[in-house]
Amino acid sequence: MDATRQHFLMCRPTYFAVDYAINPWMDPTAPVDTDLAVRQWERLRQVYRDLGHTVEEITPVPGLPDMVFAANGGTVIDGKAMAVQFRDPQRADEAPAYRAWFEQAGFEMYDPKHVNEGEGDILLAGDHLLAGTGFRTAHASHAQLQEVFGYPVITMQLVDPRFYHLDTALTVLDERTVAYLPEAFSPGSQAVLRRLFPDAVHATMADAEVLGLNAVSDGRHVVLPEQATGLAAKLRERGYQTIGVDLSELRKAGGGPKCCTLRLRQGKASR
Ligand code: ARG
Repeated sequence: MDATRQHFLMCRPTYFAVDYAINPWMDPTAPVDTDLAVRQWERLRQVYRDLGHTVEEITPVPGLPDMVFAANGGTVIDGKAMAVQFRDPQRADEAPAYRAWFEQAGFEMYDPKHVNEGEGDILLAGDHLLAGTGFRTAHASHAQLQEVFGYPVITMQLVDPRFYHLDTALTVLDERTVAYLPEAFSPGSQAVLRRLFPDAVHATMADAEVLGLNAVSDGRHVVLPEQATGLAAKLRERGYQTIGVDLSELRKAGGGPKCCTLRLRQGKASR
């Protein structure tokens, strides 16, 4: 399997905290160790660099504790960047910060007309855009995504509030295959996934409950939470190389490696 060099955007968790609860993982009364979160995040960044990927960074903004989850900052494909619109007011101010970053980086900008939480819910899998809905990204935004990016958009109906973003329930492994938790999807979406990806890896609830599916693959190496041992074993059986990382502090906000990582796809060549 060939690894593709990736271009990522990340945001240091300098102001990370769990001050509000907008998903079932978040408990504002539980203690959070921000220094440990930073060290765990730095380790993730180092793993990417060691794999030969390029990591860009956006400056964190005080008062935006979830800004570390860069995947929610936008969707960037073929040099086009679609900005985001958050469901929850607590995260609203992240959208213009990320938008400004894309603009200065020279991407062609598009603005969302409906709630759209970026790569948290919108994943390019081969030549299809898989687009989650049910908790965050509005179904109405899917049509706009298809219009802007020109990839067929496949709606994925999420049904379990713990797996509120598509990237908590499904990982794109390479151009042909994904891994996912079937029960996180409606029966119809499960049927679509079986049709599109007959060789997909099926994860267990035990893997998903440690956010094991919130993983980042370059087509050969899969970076995933180290607690997801069952999923890692299945991936190795399929020939992927797995790299476990511990993001226990960020998991208190409902995030894992993929949430911290936005793919920047300049154009066809660097997809
Ligand atoms: N606390 C954040 C939220 O609920 C976590 C976002 C995780 N990001 C992701 N791409 N799944 O919005």
